[in-house]
Amino acid sequence: MNINLPKSALIPPSDYVIFGGTGDLATRKILPALFWRFLDGQINENFSIFICSRKEIKIEDLELSISKQGLGIIKEQKVSWEKFKKLIKLTKLDVSNGAGAEELKKELNKNTSSSRPIIFYLALSSDLFNRVCEVLKNQDLNLPQSRIVLEKPLGKDRKTAKRINDEISRYFNESQIYRIDHYLGKETVQNLMALRFANVIFENQWNNKHIDNVQITVAETVGVEGRGSYYDSYGAIKDMLQNHLLQLLCLIAMEPPANFNAEEVRDEKLRVLKALAPPSKDDFIIGQYKGYAKEVGQTTNTETYIATKVLINNWRWAEVPFYLRTGKKLSVRASEIVITFKDRVHDIFSKDIKNIDHSHPNRLIIRVQPDEGLRLQLRSKEPGPGGMRLFPSELNLSFGETFQSRLPDAYERLLIDTARGNQTLFMRFDEVLAAWNYIDKLVSFLSIEKLKKYDQGSMGPADTILEKSGHEWFEIH
Ligand code: BG6
Repeated sequence: MNINLPKSALIPPSDYVIFGGTGDLATRKILPALFWRFLDGQINENFSIFICSRKEIKIEDLELSISKQGLGIIKEQKVSWEKFKKLIKLTKLDVSNGAGAEELKKELNKNTSSSRPIIFYLALSSDLFNRVCEVLKNQDLNLPQSRIVLEKPLGKDRKTAKRINDEISRYFNESQIYRIDHYLGKETVQNLMALRFANVIFENQWNNKHIDNVQITVAETVGVEGRGSYYDSYGAIKDMLQNHLLQLLCLIAMEPPANFNAEEVRDEKLRVLKALAPPSKDDFIIGQYKGYAKEVGQTTNTETYIATKVLINNWRWAEVPFYLRTGKKLSVRASEIVITFKDRVHDIFSKDIKNIDHSHPNRLIIRVQPDEGLRLQLRSKEPGPGGMRLFPSELNLSFGETFQSRLPDAYERLLIDTARGNQTLFMRFDEVLAAWNYIDKLVSFLSIEKLKKYDQGSMGPADTILEKSGHEWFEIH
């Protein structure tokens, strides 16, 4: 086993250029992630971080925004933060007219090397992607070593995604475009691939002969948190289902790729997305939490909750329901994948062979966050006399306890991969389009009657999607 590999492999010195550098994403995720990589020694004094913003800002403003996000790390690591700060170059740049782009170019040119990666991170609305690309092109910054990082969701449907992508493709080719779905950078999500492809015990069971149903839940306790104007024009389906939940489904359902490389992993995920059965009008429910209208300042039919049943039309998965649900202002914050296995066909412990106890089937529970880990539910003999009394028990692998180390944030891994030029954990455009094909159909079924109001702190509106197939949601804590 390659346990002796260094934990933080060095990456080539690079320039990170963050557009929207003072925004929520940059101050909450991108900068702290780069700082953590600095603390680990992967980023050093040979890197530069350009924080581009329309308005002139001071480093103190940036620090304040980061600390406001509750990131005490700056205070805890004061000495390192002072060193890290020297890498940051505050750059006034207005993408609407390109003012300031020339200065950026001059600064980038100081780091002369044709192989030094320049990573342009577009932490902006996708409406501005084309504009930024034009600005870069006008300065001849769309160089072979340039990479461009885009946030999800790309577009609002297949058509707009295609238009945006066509525009970007005029300046950058596919191998330079890194489309982020930060769920792919989460440790436990990467672990899904390790679980499936570095072990053999589940592979023989991983199909419709042995798996009864799969449930994927991404439950959040937060609401729209000041992102009302963005969220209200997207909703849970486009904000979460189109990307995070479908990507999780792909990792569970994909065939083993021949190699762990970007093209082969993404080829297999694409096959899953192409095999999705068209959604059914009756197999989904949407909801909106009470108080949403007040939070976003208007009454709209935007869904903050979606639950749906997805079928995959291929040899391995035919007829196995994948139940997906996600929502805001729910009772717990938990992302969990529950794989329920089919039960025994014969019970040797039951005297009453007509009445086998099917409760407590074997389940594999993959906890994506928080309390990351794996649980395998089994039936065991209750100790002591009294015959063979079975009771449900669990094998529990907590990643926190096992590895006793901090799990890096998803953005840390993804930002490092952009410098390394590794696209495995980024979405290829054909995947994005295939996901939109499915989502566009689902969205066409949305209707006001379907939208159910639910109480904040509940688990969303009641549904009968699972009941119809004799299933129920596995309770999440
Ligand atoms: C983002 C969505 O992609 O993911 C947010 O836009 C959501 O609405 C967030 O809150 C959830 O991410 P995480 O990592 O907190 O589970």
